[in-house]
Amino acid sequence: MKTGFLLILATLGVTMACGGDDGEGEAEVPEVDCATVTVPRYAELTFLQDSCAHCHGADKEGPARQEAPVSINFDTIEAAKPFAKEAVEELYEDPPAMPPASANLPAVTEAQRSALNAWAQCGTPE
Ligand code: HEC
Repeated sequence: MKTGFLLILATLGVTMACGGDDGEGEAEVPEVDCATVTVPRYAELTFLQDSCAHCHGADKEGPARQEAPVSINFDTIEAAKPFAKEAVEELYEDPPAMPPASANLPAVTEAQRSALNAWAQCGTPE
């Protein structure tokens, strides 16, 4: 009896863990078939400069970062690579978590986020 109840709890836990990362907005990132998509190079992801580096830029300090974590930048490929998947998750939250709504910047388009997703899942090519 008690074991059965715990089993149900464990099953629920697993189901929920598969649903997303840390709860917020539940990102549903589509899986990319790297063999069939055109994977962009970092330099083609120009929206990172326009929509993200505005706050997440190595050249941005103090208030200019608008509270973007100092360790997370997207203005160079070296900085962007380790955070590629995290960035994708932010963009597939509903509504997208970045750029923050308070920033009044244009939202990232479907084409832009799927290009970033392909880049992130298919080897982050230069
Ligand atoms: C107006 C400034 C601003 C812009 C523009 C911006 N961010 Fe952020 N970003 C923040 C702030 C502030 C945080 C920390 C608070 C939070 O996570 O909401 C953050 C956090 C993050 C994180 C870490 C999230 C986490 O849960 O720890 C990632 C990844 C991220 N941003 C990616 C992006 C991407 C990709 C873009 C461009 C599409 C972008 N950001 C644009 C301000 C910005």
